[in-house]
Amino acid sequence: APNAPNAHGDGTPPSATVPPLPDLPAPHLRDLPFTGGTIDALLREERVFRPLPQVVAGAVVNPQDVTRARARAAADPDGYWEEAAEELEWFRRWDAVHDGSNAPFHRWFTGARCNIVHNALDRHIETGTKNRLALIWEGESGDTRSFTYYQLYREVNRLANALRGLGVGKGDRVIIYMPPLPETVFAMLAAAKIGAVHSTVFGGFSARSLRDRMEDARPAVIVTVDGFYRNGRVIPLKPIADEAVATLPPDLAAGVRHMVVVHRAHMETPMTEGRDIWYHDAVRGQHHEALTEIMDSTDPLFLLYTSGTTGKPKGHVHAHGGYMVGVHRTMRWVFDVKPTDIFWCTAEPGWITGHSYVVYGPLMAGTTTVLYEGHPLYPEPGRVWSMVERLGVTILYTAPTLVRMLMRHGAQHVARHDLTTLRLLATVGEPISPEAWLWFHRHVGRGRCPVLDTWWQTETGMIMLSPLPVSLLKPGSVTRPLPGIEADVVDEHGKPVGPGHGGLLVLQRPWPAMSCGVYNDDESYRRLYWERFPGWYCTGDVARRDEDGYFWIQGRADDVLLIAGHRIGTAEMEAALASHPSVAECAVIGVPDALRGEVAKAFVVLVDDHPPLGTMVNADDLATELVEHVRRELGPVAVIREVTFREGLPRNRSGKIMRRVLRSEELGRDTGDLSTLEDGYV
Ligand code: WTA
Repeated sequence: APNAPNAHGDGTPPSATVPPLPDLPAPHLRDLPFTGGTIDALLREERVFRPLPQVVAGAVVNPQDVTRARARAAADPDGYWEEAAEELEWFRRWDAVHDGSNAPFHRWFTGARCNIVHNALDRHIETGTKNRLALIWEGESGDTRSFTYYQLYREVNRLANALRGLGVGKGDRVIIYMPPLPETVFAMLAAAKIGAVHSTVFGGFSARSLRDRMEDARPAVIVTVDGFYRNGRVIPLKPIADEAVATLPPDLAAGVRHMVVVHRAHMETPMTEGRDIWYHDAVRGQHHEALTEIMDSTDPLFLLYTSGTTGKPKGHVHAHGGYMVGVHRTMRWVFDVKPTDIFWCTAEPGWITGHSYVVYGPLMAGTTTVLYEGHPLYPEPGRVWSMVERLGVTILYTAPTLVRMLMRHGAQHVARHDLTTLRLLATVGEPISPEAWLWFHRHVGRGRCPVLDTWWQTETGMIMLSPLPVSLLKPGSVTRPLPGIEADVVDEHGKPVGPGHGGLLVLQRPWPAMSCGVYNDDESYRRLYWERFPGWYCTGDVARRDEDGYFWIQGRADDVLLIAGHRIGTAEMEAALASHPSVAECAVIGVPDALRGEVAKAFVVLVDDHPPLGTMVNADDLATELVEHVRRELGPVAVIREVTFREGLPRNRSGKIMRRVLRSEELGRDTGDLSTLEDGYV
């Protein structure tokens, strides 16, 4: 095909023939400049966007570098990652880059000593980075706080000393149950600095979700906040943390020695004598220097819980050395990040994206990271654009859900703002439709900024499949694996499916930032990710490749939903539903949603002695109650759009509920290409 990218999808000389974008408003999406594709290509997106000459000219990594890196990584993967590791500082060099002797529990940079916080903070204090802006925080109500590297370093050190004073040491777990606040970043870095293992829990999660995570992580300390601002309201958080601790078994509850509480919303907050301490009291008088714990490369840095196919969330363990190398390399290459950038990743620090690309990645790169407390549409739909304009954001990394939300409110909100500082746009978390991609590219990027669709997971720790700013882009495609990453799309026997066919996305070679395993559960890690295709990591996603080798991610292959880009297991939602006294059994499936990408639909069989619906009980009221019940149990992430009451649920011979049948009934289509796979892999 004349317009196909070359074999590598990069390395193509930039085309100087791309016409400038016409002024807004756009007559029609199809009038966008593109160098390939046909008019009927919306479903099978075939448009190709070549990098603009000015993007290539300014890129840290040029197309030739990428081609060379791919060849180098294929021939000598250890050597490739070793070079990446040499860009960071270590207290002791590694004996081996990669040790797969205990696979699938891979170990990276064995024998090395390091601490990621040394690279994110300490080393900058010795250079010109010291007085540069590290963090700009904006509260929902418009208050702002910013910190230079030196100021951030001192805040972190004071908290590190305070935590040590509270008895927290190497290997202890610290749960951080917080909204996006500067103290959230301080807490992560302070814990890591003293060798403790942080585990952030998204501030939108319920007491039950927090309790489940604490039961597994057994924290010594919890860092939380009285309350925070969201969508114009004050949301109390400390009472939820109290409730979660109160519902723990007594020995575990006693293990929570302290709760450090940030004073944010100035709320009346009950404090438990001897256990609870205000953040400002804890750090008062603490020294601004603190020793950085010397860690083994393979020592755990954090635990992060994510929903899986089975009941309880799994705590993935990431270690200092490998994680730091993988995140640093992808930060620099994918985002082409320079010290002069103002980098805004809209994810909350509580999710993996926040860990890697709000906190550790930008700080290791010595750039400025932006953190926003509140709702992206508060107090008006132009909030995001006003922030970009006011702060001079150069790189915006966000979720397709947010793009769709902003798109729905219309381009006029974008057009009101001067967004000329932006030079790069990127998305993560769920598939982005060509329509949303094109809107983002046109109205936000004004046709000048590459839009990078990045694919990765909590488990991978770092971006895995993604274009670079100099790559040829196809709207809706994550393009190709990054150098050093090997991926393919295979059938249930592990055979590549070939262009145009759907199959399972697998990663065929280990990578530095990979999960070291599931906390307390080696067996699950082995079974969930490595058993299906021995030696390969099974992502749980369905994808296809096109004739050019470009990857198109289609969604989850298992019973995990992506609601507004947030992973939630149908099993977790079913367990929450089943805890309602009216529910005998239930099944939850994902259904498409224009805004959130996907939401849940529940099928419920009522208990035998339940009064018949329509007589004493109104079915709509009960459905609403069930939806509310799940929301209370799991938090606002768990969105059920519809509840249908049924006499029974379809089951296979072994009695397992066939969600696949419900899904094809609901969506009115066959499960297609993947119908040969057993339930749970459709
Ligand atoms: C999905 C978020 C399509 C995918 C970093 C994956 C995506 C899950 C993309 C991981 C993308 C992530 N296109 N789908 N660019 N990025 N996903 O652990 O299903 O919260 O398995 O990590 O999100 O979600 P997680």
